[in-house]
Amino acid sequence: MPAIVIIGAQWGDEGKGKATDLLGSRIDYVVKFNGGNNAGHTVVVGEEKYALHLLPSGILTEGVTPVIANGVVVDIEVLFEELDALSARGVDVSRLKISSNAHVITQYHRTLDKVTERFLGKRQIGTTGRGIGPTYADKINRVGIRIQDLFDENILRQKVEASLDQKNHLLVKIYNRRAITVDEIVTDLLSYADRLRPMVADTSLLLHEALEAGKHILFEGGQATMLDVDHGTYPFVTSSNSTAGGAATGSGIGPNRIERVIAVVKAYTTRVGAGPFPTELFDESGEWLRTRGFEFGTTTGRPRRTGWYDAPIARYSSRINGVTDFVLTKLDTLTGLDTIPVCIAYDVEGVRHDEVPASQSDFHHAVPIYQNFPGWSEDITGVRRFEDLPTNAQGYVIALEAMSGSRISAIGVGPGREAIVVRHDLLD
Ligand code: GDP
Ligand code: IMO
Ligand code: MG
Repeated sequence: MPAIVIIGAQWGDEGKGKATDLLGSRIDYVVKFNGGNNAGHTVVVGEEKYALHLLPSGILTEGVTPVIANGVVVDIEVLFEELDALSARGVDVSRLKISSNAHVITQYHRTLDKVTERFLGKRQIGTTGRGIGPTYADKINRVGIRIQDLFDENILRQKVEASLDQKNHLLVKIYNRRAITVDEIVTDLLSYADRLRPMVADTSLLLHEALEAGKHILFEGGQATMLDVDHGTYPFVTSSNSTAGGAATGSGIGPNRIERVIAVVKAYTTRVGAGPFPTELFDESGEWLRTRGFEFGTTTGRPRRTGWYDAPIARYSSRINGVTDFVLTKLDTLTGLDTIPVCIAYDVEGVRHDEVPASQSDFHHAVPIYQNFPGWSEDITGVRRFEDLPTNAQGYVIALEAMSGSRISAIGVGPGREAIVVRHDLLD
């Protein structure tokens, strides 16, 4: 089972680290293939709590080689801060490899992210402000800066000049900001070169050789299906392909190498930032879910929007990603509810839609059609076998499985690494 992909099935923050942990020691390489430090992963190991942004959460597993592949956008200052913080806590980060083709987030990308959001006013996306969108825009516009450019000052200067020229017009004339000089950017980027050099590699070749040698590679997706730039709720999405296909293009391995696709899905739904969210709750149940589930962003600290489980979205994710297994997280958060509504379809102006509507306007107007399931009140955080869950909790999982398009192979019952109920081996 050489290449395994883990992705989020909803709008992010599903607890993707939980699935990574489950594979644990059986993994040799863990690869981030999309996004950047817009991601926020909280991983609890024993008494220790780690918040990771740019680095894949698998970096916490002893003995793995972490890889930042070509599809990622890298804020180098953040990279070094995160590496230093982990080293100080005794995590071995010495094996990290970074693709020479990965694009670099610079100061002007961060500035543009913030000013364009402000300019959008009511229509803003609610980005994380980390410069993600503008860096991917430069990549597609062919005016991006790549990691390898840091090792050739002439090339770097030419590329920064080409990229900044137009942007300074925008910054000064439209956004009323000061111009950014080529020198300040080049000096800043060059100051990272020496420390970065030993980490840089042809990661596509490295991964190819690892696969040939029968190693296990885990591709860890940032963000999630509904935030994918092609398949998510555009324009309220991130700027990369966070679905399973992104693992191939974002790392330079062939798609036929991927043998398992694991989607992480929360037992309810959350979203950070703007955009449609049919099952969103505006009443006390929404507040209850937020408080009980500690639903506050790892990256920006923003309160997450909360709502019930949306089965058409799970089915959509199953289809778009070719999901082989779901890991259902945070079942414990629902403990104490009398009934748990689940969205089974949508009503769009009197017409029933069993699947996610293809038209954005229809999705904006989708009203959930709910089916209620009986809740449970027993504490389930100590449960480790499916048959030991309360009957109603088992019933809830079995019902979600029947509606969601793939088997639910593991169930999260608490934040800790060990708080999981396994039904099927993820590598079987
Ligand atoms: P990611 O972005 O998908 O990596 O997820 P985040 O780390 O942003 O958010 C998931 C949060 O849920 C983290 O604080 C996890 O510690 C926590 N978590 C994960 N699985 C479970 C679970 O099964 N139960 C509970 N109560 N918390 C969980
Ligand atoms: P993880 O990996 C949740 C959201 C932002 C915003 C939109 C675009 O922790 O699941 P961006 O800064 O990427 O241009 O913002 O995407 N967003 C996330 N929401 N979890 C994430 O990552 C996210 N990364 C970006 O809130 O709505
Ligand atoms: Mg997160």
